[in-house]
Amino acid sequence: MELTRTADLWWKTAIVYCLDVETFSDGNGDGHGDFRGLAQRVDYLDRLGVTCLWLMPFYPSPDRDDGYDITDFYTVDPRLGTLGDFVEFMRTARDRGIRVIADLVVNHTSDQHPWFQSARTGPDSPYHDWYVWQDKPPPDAEKGIVFPDKETSLWTYDRKARKYYLHRFYKHQPDLNVANPAVRDEIARIMGFWLELGLSGFRVDGVPFLLETGGSDDAELLPDPHDYLADLRAFLGRRCGDAVMLGEVNLPYSETMRFFGDGDGVADELTMCFDFIGMQRMYLALARGDAGPLAEALRERPLPPRDGHWATFVRNHDELTLDKLTDDERQEVFDAFGPDKDMQLYDRGLRRRVPSMMGGDQRRIRQLYSLLYSLPGCPVLFYGEEIGMAEDLSAEGRLAVRTPMQWDSGPNGGFSTADPADLPGPIPDGEFGPSHVNVRDQERDPDSLLAWMRKLIDRYRECPELAWGEYTILDTAEPSVLAHRCDIEGTVVVLHNFADHDVKPELELDVTELEDVVTGERITLADNKKVTVELEPYGCRWLRVV
Ligand code: NOJ
Repeated sequence: MELTRTADLWWKTAIVYCLDVETFSDGNGDGHGDFRGLAQRVDYLDRLGVTCLWLMPFYPSPDRDDGYDITDFYTVDPRLGTLGDFVEFMRTARDRGIRVIADLVVNHTSDQHPWFQSARTGPDSPYHDWYVWQDKPPPDAEKGIVFPDKETSLWTYDRKARKYYLHRFYKHQPDLNVANPAVRDEIARIMGFWLELGLSGFRVDGVPFLLETGGSDDAELLPDPHDYLADLRAFLGRRCGDAVMLGEVNLPYSETMRFFGDGDGVADELTMCFDFIGMQRMYLALARGDAGPLAEALRERPLPPRDGHWATFVRNHDELTLDKLTDDERQEVFDAFGPDKDMQLYDRGLRRRVPSMMGGDQRRIRQLYSLLYSLPGCPVLFYGEEIGMAEDLSAEGRLAVRTPMQWDSGPNGGFSTADPADLPGPIPDGEFGPSHVNVRDQERDPDSLLAWMRKLIDRYRECPELAWGEYTILDTAEPSVLAHRCDIEGTVVVLHNFADHDVKPELELDVTELEDVVTGERITLADNKKVTVELEPYGCRWLRVV
């Protein structure tokens, strides 16, 4: 297809790379990653093929939820640098053609935010109605707790305000009241501020919770909270026409669709939604060695409205949630990829990374990333995945997967020259620690995982049909094989084998010749339009119709 079509809707063929500035690279030797350190790594990200960075929260924070508890939305946490450092980094990224989006965490603030501190003083505070208060917690106060290891209710009594306040997450994260027009104006101001500094959009945290107005006395002012999401998107468009909102919406497909827009065929709310369902069913397929659960999810997955797109991922910064599987299915995934209690979190997810879950089997790890780049959707990587970093279970909860980036085999994995005690997290040791897994070694090894990632990213960019095309799941009569084709002014056919043995699936295609996108090998189809494709254990093939 014509590549010129891909430039306007840049997110459809983007490679998004999520990182936390704090754990990526320390530029001043104080133990914390910072914007100066990150700026020095921009060329590495460019060489990898990243086209868009997603920065996890870098705003001032008491850091009780790794920065998702914010005390000032308009500046940079001093540990990570200054606004000046931020702008220098943005300038460097832009020079390399890399866009930057950032977490927009406006469902709540930190309880240390001056707005909340003022709000607590009572109804005379101009900020009191910026939060959601009740004299008594509602009867369903215990329903829908996100962090059941720490919280027992969504409502907590504040002794100063003498009222209960709503917090969908931790009690130190009071929810903002988006039914209040002043709060909505402020959220737009925050977005406008960072757009002026060059952001290309936002990853919007906890969107369903942000839109929820139940419990707020002002709820009738905002009868349909989706109008608000559409307003935000329109505001974004006025300030920066091609900026995006990538939303965290972990709901069944039918409910997630509502967050793209009101069903009139245009994505005028979120530009992209993460495919949490596809991700969970992919792990079930991997656990079973049977492509069925993933094929089923892809068949069920609705097409996003015009200009909208799904965002795909195999790991993110949170627990690997399996909450949308049945109890038995979740147990199958636990048994396969995280059997110990310590590897599991909140009874619904895993706190491990891909290489350890796959037992270090390079065939399985590589196949998983081949799936990530070839399934329809915008692939989102979590830092360190490209070299095969694993978790450190000695770190608390989700921090197990947020250890410092492993740049080389030297002290602190090349992340920082500081004393190890001053680092934001432990440096893992063992087979996945920096002595064995690091950027420097893999950059020099043509067979490394990093080299494989670069190759896949190149091929993905060469095959925009994967993102733009109409996709069809193909029948192969081989349960372990997922075969799909993407058609738009050209066709790409992709096969993945989920089994630990060779398979030879037969495909029937209305074409005469295929070319392996990775090896260049040509395959001619027989007159009956049938072709047998050989796949190694956990093998994959990307084939372009010649
Ligand atoms: C969702 C984020 O992904 C998670 O890391 C965070 O703890 C919660 N939102 C609360 O902000």
